[in-house]
Amino acid sequence: MVEVVSSSKFDELFQPSWALDHFTYEGELLKLKLDNFSGAGFQSKSKYMYGTVTVQIKLIEGDSAGTVTAFYMSSEGPTHNEFDFEFLGNTTGEPYSIQTNVFVNGEGNREQRLNLWFDPTKDFHKYSLLWTPRQVVFMVDETPIREHTNLEHRGIPFPKDQAMGVYSSIWNADDWATQGGRVKTDWSHAPFVASYKGFEIDACECPVSTATAADNMKRCGSALPTMSELSLHQNHQLMWVRANHLVYDYCTDTSRFPTIPAECVHHRH
Ligand SMILES: *[C@@H]1O[C@H](CO)[C@@H](O)[C@H](O)[C@H]1NC(C)=O
Repeated sequence: MVEVVSSSKFDELFQPSWALDHFTYEGELLKLKLDNFSGAGFQSKSKYMYGTVTVQIKLIEGDSAGTVTAFYMSSEGPTHNEFDFEFLGNTTGEPYSIQTNVFVNGEGNREQRLNLWFDPTKDFHKYSLLWTPRQVVFMVDETPIREHTNLEHRGIPFPKDQAMGVYSSIWNADDWATQGGRVKTDWSHAPFVASYKGFEIDACECPVSTATAADNMKRCGSALPTMSELSLHQNHQLMWVRANHLVYDYCTDTSRFPTIPAECVHHRH
């Protein structure tokens, strides 16, 4: 692969984007804090096209209701593309939820939600995004939880030609995040802390100013990660996750989408 970067160190790949005073560094650990003054966020120094991005996160312990911790890739502008992991907090003892979303040409509304098969506040777990010209795969500890396939041959747009940055942030979203917004953030339990380590970007780096989208696609398309399709085992894992842990899928929400979204008709999952 060309110009692939890989590091487990925060500083080499990322920089804080807001609320520097809500960052704490403890050896290899980075902690982001949310309190009633501010959340916090960071972003990659570079933009990328295709590859795998992984971070290990230990989510907010105890009462995390009303909070959202996000890890995502996004391009810029009104027709941006975006692949989101949003970790929705909950009251003590109730399950954290993972919401994923895919934006294509500025349009989202492709939410899926699942409750995990482990407690993500007890230990670090790996959250990864795999992006190739053929699909976007969301993974938790290497288990695929969502696959968004390229269906351009059916006339359905796919996020393919915009370089993306990598981002994470923590903020208050108690108007919607927990139990539909019914449970509010209890600030007496602040600060809410999410911990990070093991930053890995194995992706094709795009020089921001010089190259055109076509240049980037050509160069990065030839530098693809070897794993560009799910194995049979991973397909089985994805089916298991969907059968046992999925709690919401926009594809089956007929009250919101009386006409089934085009890609849902063709996606196997
Ligand atoms: C929070 O816990 C409730 C009750 O167990 C559950 O229905 C919900 O899916 C959980 N997640 C969120 C984000 O509300």
